[in-house]
Amino acid sequence: MADSKIRNEIHVFINGVEHSIGGEKAFLPLAQYLRNHSLPGTKVVCAEGDCGACTVLVSKLKATQAENPEWSDFQTINSCIAPMYLFDLTSLVTVEGLSDQDELNEVQDKMRTFHGGQCGYCTPGMVCALSSLAESSHCHGKSISEKKARNHLTGNLCRCTGYEPILQAATHVDLSKWKPLKERYLTTQQTKTFAPLLKDSLHIEAGQRRFHAPFSLAVAVDQKNQSPETRLVAGATDLGVLHNKGKSFLDNVMSLHKIAETEKIESRADGVWVGARVTLTQLENYVESTLPELSRLLRIFASPQIKNQGTLVGNVMNGSPIGDSIPALLALDAKVHLQSVDGLREVPLSQFYKAYKVFDVRPNEIATGILIPVPGPEWKHRFFKVSLRKDLDISAVTFAASLKMDGVKITEARFAMGGVGPTVVRLPELEKSAQGRNFDEALFADLGKQVRSLIKPISDLRASDEYCLKVAENLFKKCHLELEQEIPCP
Ligand code: FES
Ligand code: FES
Repeated sequence: MADSKIRNEIHVFINGVEHSIGGEKAFLPLAQYLRNHSLPGTKVVCAEGDCGACTVLVSKLKATQAENPEWSDFQTINSCIAPMYLFDLTSLVTVEGLSDQDELNEVQDKMRTFHGGQCGYCTPGMVCALSSLAESSHCHGKSISEKKARNHLTGNLCRCTGYEPILQAATHVDLSKWKPLKERYLTTQQTKTFAPLLKDSLHIEAGQRRFHAPFSLAVAVDQKNQSPETRLVAGATDLGVLHNKGKSFLDNVMSLHKIAETEKIESRADGVWVGARVTLTQLENYVESTLPELSRLLRIFASPQIKNQGTLVGNVMNGSPIGDSIPALLALDAKVHLQSVDGLREVPLSQFYKAYKVFDVRPNEIATGILIPVPGPEWKHRFFKVSLRKDLDISAVTFAASLKMDGVKITEARFAMGGVGPTVVRLPELEKSAQGRNFDEALFADLGKQVRSLIKPISDLRASDEYCLKVAENLFKKCHLELEQEIPCP
């Protein structure tokens, strides 16, 4: 099948300087590439996306606008877990690129004034994270509140408890003095340089390793059919961690990031369609008014750096029993779209997970997106995540409830939980128990008792089995307490 021109190197601007990267170098984590190329300000501490020391800013030339290409806003990502090959036609800014001709930028200046920089490991990442906040606040005419600064810094750990001066620095940033990064790093000349390359496919090889990024879905599907062992990679926020730990190697991988239709998120008659390349940040913003409970859950899903790079489809296809989005998607009755040379298959998520990391996906299929139905106002939802820390932590237990109400009567119920067995589970026994009953405290106390015999959590580093059982029971009570505010009492 014919494809567009195939390139065997990626092109990126790093602090405004063009790099053409192929072979071995294209398979390096971005942080390592930067450090090998005289940009050691980006630090690698945890190498698993947890501490933010490796934070850099990235803007992508959007593939959806091939005729009139546009750059996305600068966003932060963790460069330690992101393979270089994902950054074709992007503009990256590292901590070295923030100052302007040796003059500190406004964030750096305030960090100095308020003594926000205390060690050389965390500070570059903090400065990059706050610079992205200043950039977006300046470009969208917003101010920087302490709450916003705290939220923006959830992905940046300071181990010496120096947050107070960092927050002081953030809230004293004078945005009228901010010199937008986009004026320096997203110039017309840079757009002209990259625009002719937008329709290229990528094929990069180094030894045994292969990376493909076709420009069209038809070619991607054809390649997957010919080479079913090819692994799909999206944001690599999970695979990148496994790779760094030597547990999984991204040797023969394909990315859909050049395919415009996978970048789409849109409202359709049957729900919100989320393409395979839509990031969790995009989803959080898009569903803020249509599915507010899902948007609220996504706020504590992970750090901004992870949500800017990770995708919903990646979370679903990774299929972790503690995948944070999956219980909510089960309660919303979402469907996975799988494309192959045999056509499109729509699989309800409730039938997708068969056993630990065993899914209803054929070797030649590619997940192209997820359809999330948008229920009417008669449906009430609660999605909870319980973890040791509120932000940036792996879940111990996740919970989702969607109830269709007719006054105080539950006419249909969907319950799902994660962290309580080898897969995320729907709880049909409890759904049956709730159907046709009145919404009251006694019912949810009873559901909480019943759930203990239906789930099988294990004791591990996150929590003990008994803790998970107690939390599961209590989450039903919490669900009742919170929804009581929305459902009229009998
Ligand atoms: Fe810790 Fe990258 S080094 S998030
Ligand atoms: Fe690095 Fe606090 S600034 S530990």
